[in-house]
Amino acid sequence: MSDRIRHGSNLGQPLTRRDGILKVTGAAPYAADRHPPGMLYAVMAVSRIARGRVSRLDVAAAKRHPGVVAVMTPDNKPALAQHPDEKHDGFTFRLDLLQDDRVRYANQPVAVVIAETLEAATEGAALLSPTYEAETPAVGLDAAESFTPPAIGVGDPADLETGDVAAGLAAASRRIEATYETPAQYHNAMEPHAVVATWDGDRLDLDMPSQGLAMAQGRIAGLFGIAPSDIHIRSPFLGGGFGSKGMIAGPQVLGIMAARLVGRPVKLVMTRPQMFGPVGHRAPTRQTLRLGASEDGGLTALDHETLTATSTFDDFIEPSGGVSHTLYATPALATRHKAVRLDTGTPLFMRAPGEASGSVALEGAIDEMAEACGMDPLAFRLRNYAETEPASGKPFSSKALRDCYARGAEAFGWARRPLAPRQMRNADGLLVGWGVGTATFPALMFQAEARASLKATGEASVAIGAIDMGQGAWTALAQIAAEELGLDIDAIDVRIGSSDLPNGGIAGGSAHTATAGTAIKGAAADAIAQLAALAAQDSRSPLYGAGNAGVVARGGRLVRRDDESRSEAFTDILVRAGRDAVEGKGAAGPDAAREHYAMHAHGAVFAEVTVDPELGQIRATRLVGAFAAGRIINPRLVRSQYYGGMIWGVSFALHEQAVMDPRTGRPMNANFAEYHVPVNADVPSLEAILVEEEDPHVNPLGIKGVGEIGVTGSAGAIVNAIWHATGQRVRRLPVTLDKVL
Ligand code: MOS
Repeated sequence: MSDRIRHGSNLGQPLTRRDGILKVTGAAPYAADRHPPGMLYAVMAVSRIARGRVSRLDVAAAKRHPGVVAVMTPDNKPALAQHPDEKHDGFTFRLDLLQDDRVRYANQPVAVVIAETLEAATEGAALLSPTYEAETPAVGLDAAESFTPPAIGVGDPADLETGDVAAGLAAASRRIEATYETPAQYHNAMEPHAVVATWDGDRLDLDMPSQGLAMAQGRIAGLFGIAPSDIHIRSPFLGGGFGSKGMIAGPQVLGIMAARLVGRPVKLVMTRPQMFGPVGHRAPTRQTLRLGASEDGGLTALDHETLTATSTFDDFIEPSGGVSHTLYATPALATRHKAVRLDTGTPLFMRAPGEASGSVALEGAIDEMAEACGMDPLAFRLRNYAETEPASGKPFSSKALRDCYARGAEAFGWARRPLAPRQMRNADGLLVGWGVGTATFPALMFQAEARASLKATGEASVAIGAIDMGQGAWTALAQIAAEELGLDIDAIDVRIGSSDLPNGGIAGGSAHTATAGTAIKGAAADAIAQLAALAAQDSRSPLYGAGNAGVVARGGRLVRRDDESRSEAFTDILVRAGRDAVEGKGAAGPDAAREHYAMHAHGAVFAEVTVDPELGQIRATRLVGAFAAGRIINPRLVRSQYYGGMIWGVSFALHEQAVMDPRTGRPMNANFAEYHVPVNADVPSLEAILVEEEDPHVNPLGIKGVGEIGVTGSAGAIVNAIWHATGQRVRRLPVTLDKVL
């Protein structure tokens, strides 16, 4: 009974999205939907070269075009309070804001045309016809000397060595060395970066998709020399972010500068090709893994070396080695990262940054070692199951990976898998292969604050500058609020997606529900505690003497734990106390438990592929993922996150790659026709199993986060399945038909 009181009906319910109808009817407002009165359109001209300088722009031709109001170039751009390359912390993303005539990557903005119509601005930008002094660009991982990159905030490269890797390899009875290559990938959310900017004196009003409102506010405030509180950003919906909307991007700032230049509201929306440059990407990697194993299949050493790339002017990289810190038990473990500086836009966090690329290589190498040991790949993974985190030696705060392996294998039918490759065919004569990959992603927490308010009128609200980029924050956060406030979800006004609300932290690192949810839980609990204090100290209340801990909020009432027949409505408590409202405050952040435990979500993904033996055509036909990620707030939304992640895995394994022209440094496939992502016809049968896991340490809600783990494990499982179908180890991603013929 007490358990039923403690856990209401909100958490764990598969509610549909509260914003679902708004979205499917087109009523959900995205940034580019805004049209303030007097608004002009801005279009960027971007560089066709990757290195050199712009020697001439035909500004006069652009200005002559009917409808063009202004052309913003390095010569007339509004002054900024900070140089766009000024670095404040490891998180600052250097920007290209027309600071000079230098070109440091293809598709870098070189001018902005502002016009009465989108068409006029587009034509004006074309008329600029830039002339360049081009220099030979550095393209590809062999184009420059490598160096050891600095650590970047979350997801540090964290080079480390524990134990003696050389000795472990020397003592091994079986050794493998395998080099895996992953290509540059671009985030390509459906919604491109956009901004609608309106200045009112030194106050700035913005509609702009952002994964982190307070961070965006701070960066813009610094650049324009105004107070963060004078900037209001609305970001109620994002058409995806994938990490690229975590940092404020240069083009969005250019839209704000354009509005300042012309003194009117300005809209700037990037085109799809322009997305391949100034707003981040996943850097390419070349990863070499050296593994040693004993006769009975126990790892004796694991060495994971990553060569990746960054830009010539900033330091973000793809930290692929991190996954090896977590997954497999080994007495000796080493990870190293090197980077080369290329004439490219700066890489950035993208869909499991580091984990996704690292997982493909690690899972491939583990599979290769299982083969070398003559073992079933799942049995080999279980043989090397890490009971404590290999890199740190810390215990896991919780780890239900064994259950994930078992549940996933059972649902997939793994026991029927022949050990040797090329043993299975389907009715059409296609080769069939089965592979497995382990999924993992760290359970992070960021800083956030929230408010909760209960009014004497019966109204309730929670407020936090949280972000829904498609993952379902509008719904999941409302469930957490409803649970803690003891109210029906429809009775609560949930306010998110605006910078005038308390700092909701970053929608990234798969940590947003944990972070924002914890802040909301705290705020709601604070409001309820205040209410309880009012009642428990009032002799006229049926709750008199119960003490704060002696009551629970349910159905808009406080109920005595020791006698459920004694309760009082929130409104009655407030009215009798002569109070208009109680206002609760809550906060979230990483706490001390993080010192003592390794915190990760885990999963196991099983993949089936078919390969045409004559044509080489590869299809993923079936994916079963079993994931354990602590408390599940809404299984419907979580399943969607896992499906999305597994589809990214299909994309990583079979489709996505930016092809860079080695002569010009330009991405050759900067469009959706040639930059392939899975369409519905590419998406296999998907099953996501939610494995139960309780975690008392990770945060007050026990949430580990589900946004990014799905891509890990999945791509490796598919690549391993391709080996099982064909007998060929393809180590260069994506695996396309030419590589298996
Ligand atoms: Mo993500 S790459 O944590 O937005």
